Amino acid sequence: MKRIYFISMILIILVLILTGCASSPSPEEDPSDEGDMLYLTLSELAEYDGKDGRPAYVAVDGVIYDVSNSRLWANGEHNGFQAGRDLTQEIQGSPHGPSTLSRMPKVGELID
Ligand code: HEM
Repeated sequence: MKRIYFISMILIILVLILTGCASSPSPEEDPSDEGDMLYLTLSELAEYDGKDGRPAYVAVDGVIYDVSNSRLWANGEHNGFQAGRDLTQEIQGSPHGPSTLSRMPKVGELID
């Protein structure tokens, strides 16, 4: 009788341990993309000019885009425009407008 009691206790403990381990992390604990967002001022953005191996970022309407991997932005330059700047006004006057930005990864937001 004692043996049955002992075995059942072991089984209960095992089940408790296994269910504890199986619990998946809650969505709050999941590292999201938000955590990797950059918040840069205009003067901080200027560092990301695409020169000497630095990343090339441009800001439009408060959103910062990474144009580093675009061959059209080699060396941080594109049709006379320079990365590391807020080009909100300039892109309105370009032949393509802001639509090309949807192909570029968003990496952050411009702050005051
Ligand atoms: C006179 C000014 C400009 C001209 C003539 C010009 C021309 C072009 C052309 C011909 C393309 C490739 C065709 C296309 O993707 O539609 C392109 C792509 C692009 N342009 Fe401009 N552009 C100008 C200004 C700007 C400005 C001010 C920005 C500011 C962010 C910009 C951002 C882009 C981006 C992000 C792409 C996509 C690059 C890629 O897909 O690799 N452009 N531009």
